Amino acid sequence: MTESGKKRLFIKTYGCQMNVYDSSRMADVLAPLGYEAVDGPRGADMVILNTCHIREKASEKVFSELGRLRAFKQERQAEGRDMVLAVAGCVAQAEGEEILRRAPQVDLVFGPQTYHRLPEMVARAARSAGGHLDIDFPVESKFDFLPEETTGTAAAAFLSVQEGCDKFCSFCVVPYTRGAEFSRPVAAVLAEARRLVAAGVQEITLLGQNVNAYHGEAPEGGKDGGTWGLGRLLYALAEIEGLTRLRYTTSHPRDMDDELIAAHGELATLMPYLHLPVQSGSDRILAAMNRQHTAEDYLRIVERLRRACPDIALSSDFIVGFPGESDADHAATLRLVTEVGYAQAYSFKYSPRPGTPAAVEEQQLPETVKTERLAGLQQLLGAQAAAFNESCVGRTLPVLFEKPGRRPGQLAGRSPYMQSVHVALPEVAQQRLIGKLMAVEIEAAFPNSLAGRLCLEAERQSVAAAASCSGSASSSSATTTRISA
Ligand code: SAH
Ligand code: SF4
Ligand code: F3S
Repeated sequence: MTESGKKRLFIKTYGCQMNVYDSSRMADVLAPLGYEAVDGPRGADMVILNTCHIREKASEKVFSELGRLRAFKQERQAEGRDMVLAVAGCVAQAEGEEILRRAPQVDLVFGPQTYHRLPEMVARAARSAGGHLDIDFPVESKFDFLPEETTGTAAAAFLSVQEGCDKFCSFCVVPYTRGAEFSRPVAAVLAEARRLVAAGVQEITLLGQNVNAYHGEAPEGGKDGGTWGLGRLLYALAEIEGLTRLRYTTSHPRDMDDELIAAHGELATLMPYLHLPVQSGSDRILAAMNRQHTAEDYLRIVERLRRACPDIALSSDFIVGFPGESDADHAATLRLVTEVGYAQAYSFKYSPRPGTPAAVEEQQLPETVKTERLAGLQQLLGAQAAAFNESCVGRTLPVLFEKPGRRPGQLAGRSPYMQSVHVALPEVAQQRLIGKLMAVEIEAAFPNSLAGRLCLEAERQSVAAAASCSGSASSSSATTTRISA
């Protein structure tokens, strides 16, 4: 029990932002049952591991963590109490039976689409011992059953608008762990966004495994009926009074349509930053990956985005050492990186995943080749990120402060370009500024962050235009970057 007499709930989240969103919704589902989130597993009444299956390393972590948790569970049992141990997320979906076999201490295993049923699962676990498995892809959508109330709202929040994937890239487990593509209706998304803003959220990141494939049912009474794409949804969200920043992730190059690209030029609320994974710069490898676009297609999209929003900062994911990748293919990836110039990026060694077509390709590459190629790519990407951060020194950027920084006396927030920005501030001043959008003069750049100082009142007024590529757009409340006093 916590001090307030509630049951202790600890959720550990692995993987992507969809899992971060799901974890917070699991806490929302369990709150009416008397569960309150705590910071660690020891002494908890319930522990949920919300897992990721994307690469081998990610899924291995689950079993080692379960080993550690067994000791905590035994400790509780020795005191005459119990700890409900649950495995959720993508490893649960992919390896449900296997988890119960390898880790008999686990009480519940459930996938990303069934956690709205948690109250029944918890009741079942209390009634009978042994592991319970719920890894359906149910006909009902969890979104229709999740509570409206959200616990613990911060300045920036995630909002899941789309789930699943029908693209079947040959390396990827997501279509198998998350299921078929599904978009939430526009009205449901707008309602959730309004609730978040009413609770104090200023920045919303729309989430989906393929977020720009969004095609949600148009709101009732909509003139043209049918469905809306992500671009149109963003225009509607930008009208919400009090919502200062919009982002979306993760996008597929194939779904960057005209309306979405135009939104980057016209909506000042839409931040000038886009994570647009390309994976490889070689057309041969892109075809083998089933990405359904060429390197040239990708470069043209980047060109159009930059035309719409000249200061847009780009990010990507890369896989090195895909089966059959030659030195020439790798060189093509390095060329594409040089041509685009990324503000930041994620890069991975190819990891064969059970059940995916690429895993059974014959030409798997040796680990040494993957290591060498990854090092080369990361050196180039690291230099680009450092140069981008360096180019921000001397600029004044609007920063949305979210939390205390890692070091005492620091407050941390994000720039429009997703960089983490710290300012030194006495603790008393920090609380007042959390959740505020402030002008910060950038004084120093580091590999993964920036440092700066708060600007004086007068300087603050001029920042909106300075940091937004759509500063010349209409000055309605929906399209102007606002800076709080
Ligand atoms: N939906 C997103 C990707 C989600 S997975 C998209 O389409 O871009 C996040 C990243 O993990 C991918 O972009 C890819 O770079 C990487 N990834 C996925 N499967 C992988 C594998 N088998 N081995 C290595 N990296 C992988
Ligand atoms: Fe995976 Fe490809 Fe779907 Fe992204 S688009 S989730 S990489 S299958
Ligand atoms: Fe991992 Fe599942 Fe996300 S596999 S990356 S947690 S969709």
